[in-house]
Amino acid sequence: MRYAIGAELRILENYIMSENNKDLKGQWGTHLPILMRLVDLTDGPILEMGTGVWSTPVLDFMCRETKRKLVSYDNDPDWHEHNQRWQSDYHDIKLVEDWDKADIESTTWSIAFIDHKPAKRRKVDMGRIANNALFVVIHDSEPESDKYFKYSWAYKHYKYRYDYTKCRPNTTILSNFTDLSFLDIK
Ligand SMILES: C[S@@+](CC[C@H](N)C(=O)[O-])C[C@H]1O[C@@H](n2cnc3c(N)ncnc32)[C@H](O)[C@@H]1O
Repeated sequence: MRYAIGAELRILENYIMSENNKDLKGQWGTHLPILMRLVDLTDGPILEMGTGVWSTPVLDFMCRETKRKLVSYDNDPDWHEHNQRWQSDYHDIKLVEDWDKADIESTTWSIAFIDHKPAKRRKVDMGRIANNALFVVIHDSEPESDKYFKYSWAYKHYKYRYDYTKCRPNTTILSNFTDLSFLDIK
């Protein structure tokens, strides 16, 4: 099944931005168009760091048909509990007290999605995962947010980078294995 290609991707982007513009309390789910596209293009294991009501169910739905391996980590017991509903034979919902204890380096991931808290922790895990994930997807990558997330500190670990700016907060894709210019579809 293919979810986020061509015209469908444009419809999803427009929908997310129009809904977010109505509710200024928060801007959510803006990683979904590019994240879904990468899920479509790959078939190996997926790591999610930072669960919620957007990426966790969407990734689960996309992995369900083929029972594709999906591992979701959180460090917040309430959000972990909330997302226990997605635990299954293909989807592991894991709680960690300390992100250093998350077992993210022993698997070769097709996609590692980084959207966890605290904000300043993300750059550490971007460094840890640099050589065992084909695509590393990081949310909140607009330059103005670098003072919180310090992603610029971790970009040096990667050879290729693509900034997805059609939906804001922005999402950046990183890779040490494949040129990302193919993602630049107009
Ligand atoms: C940016 S959120 C992760 C959102 C998630 N990746 C998604 O797309 O739904 C980072 C952390 O905040 C917590 N969280 C998730 N959803 C939240 C929400 N709606 N409001 C406040 N905190 C949330 C969880 O502990 C999560 O790991």
